[in-house]
Formats: sequence, structure tokens, C-alpha cells
Amino acid sequence: MHDEHQGFFDALAAEWDLMFTSEDLERLSRIVDRLGLKRGMEVLDLGCGTGILFDMLRRKVTATGSVTGVDFSYQMAQRAHRNFPFNNVNVVDADAINLPFADSSFDMAVAFSAFPHFSDQQKAIDEAHRVLRDWARFYIIHLTSSREISRIHHKIGGAVEHDGIPAEKQLRTMLNTSKFTDISIEDHHGLYLAIAQNRR
Ligand SMILES: C[S@@+](CC[C@H](N)C(=O)[O-])C[C@H]1O[C@@H](n2cnc3c(N)ncnc32)[C@H](O)[C@@H]1O
Repeated sequence: MHDEHQGFFDALAAEWDLMFTSEDLERLSRIVDRLGLKRGMEVLDLGCGTGILFDMLRRKVTATGSVTGVDFSYQMAQRAHRNFPFNNVNVVDADAINLPFADSSFDMAVAFSAFPHFSDQQKAIDEAHRVLRDWARFYIIHLTSSREISRIHHKIGGAVEHDGIPAEKQLRTMLNTSKFTDISIEDHHGLYLAIAQNRR
């Protein structure tokens, strides 16, 4: 299925790495420190873009673990692949709402600055749940509050104009529907962090 977001993000891929300030990277690194990553973990990065998280994740899981990025923008996925030519980093050009992985394949899934753009957010959550192992966590991460995310997307317009994160109550219901539990949501200036645990 074609999604107008693919073309939108394809067009941004060449410049994407320049979007991040060193302050953004520092803040992101501090958030990654909180995720509970361990050596040997197999981590899924949904809507990975050019792979901005890959190095931070790789350092935590070490060579015994792996990082798999998924992005349905071919240009983003290609750049991610070129940026990180490591044996334990895989990039897959696929849709987050229809993941090409077997059930229970990963120890953690993260969606950094990507969840609002998924065309069917409930399906994306269902898929995250399906591919995660028992007790694995799913993280939705942003460096701004949900209100600020919607404001920014509205200002950008085009394919992302109406993209946002569901209100807390709705997101909790969606995560529960997919059988995620132990949900916590932080949403304030400078951070959006939703955490949910997989229980079969
Ligand atoms: C705002 S960018 C963030 C990229 C990266 N996580 C980062 O922060 O640099 C959102 C990314 O999600 C991807 N994306 C949007 N919808 C997607 C979907 N349904 N499946 C896979 N990737 C998707 C876009 O192609 C884009 O690369």
C-alpha cells in the first residue's frame, strides 16, 4: 500500500542527519541510558530513519547483540544501511504495520520520533507486541511533549500535518488491546516517553 509519508520522508533523507544538534544527541543518549538495554539483546528500531539511534543502541547491546532498523522510506533505509555497515546492524525496508519478522523475535522495540507517522497506530502496536518476546518492552520516544509534536507537524503541513500521538487514555487503551501491560507515560516539556511491557 502506498502511503504519502514514504515520498515525504524519501525527500528528506539526504539532509536528515543534519537535523540533530549535539544537544539533541546528548539528550537522546541520556534517554537511551534509561531503557534497560543489556549485552546480547536483540533490539528493533521502528521508523529508524537514517539510523540516528543505532550507535547508542549498539554500544549497549555490544557485538553479542543486534540492532534491526525498519523504515518504509527506501531512501532513509538506504542511508541507514550505508551509515552503519556492521554485522550486527540490519536495516529492513518495511512497514511498521506489517513487519517481516517471526513472532517473539526481539528483546526490545523502540520508536523514536516515528510513532505519530504510522498510518495505523493500533496495527503498529499489535505488530510490536507480536514480534517482541515475553517481558520485552516497547518504548515510544520523543524529545518534545505530545502537544509540541502536534504543533510542529501542523506547522510543517503536507503529509505530516495531522500526525500526532493519541491522548494518554487512548494510547493506554490501544496498548492494552494489544496485551501490553505495566504502561507508563511521561509527557512534558522536552520529553515524551511511553513504556509498555509485553505479556503473552
Ligand atoms: C521523523 S522520522 C524519524 C526517523 C528516526 N527515528 C530519527 O529520529 O532520526 C520518521 C521515520 O519514520 C518512518 N516511517 C513512517 N511511517 C512508517 C511506517 N509505517 N513504517 C516504517 N517506517 C515508517 C519514516 O519513513 C521516517 O524515516
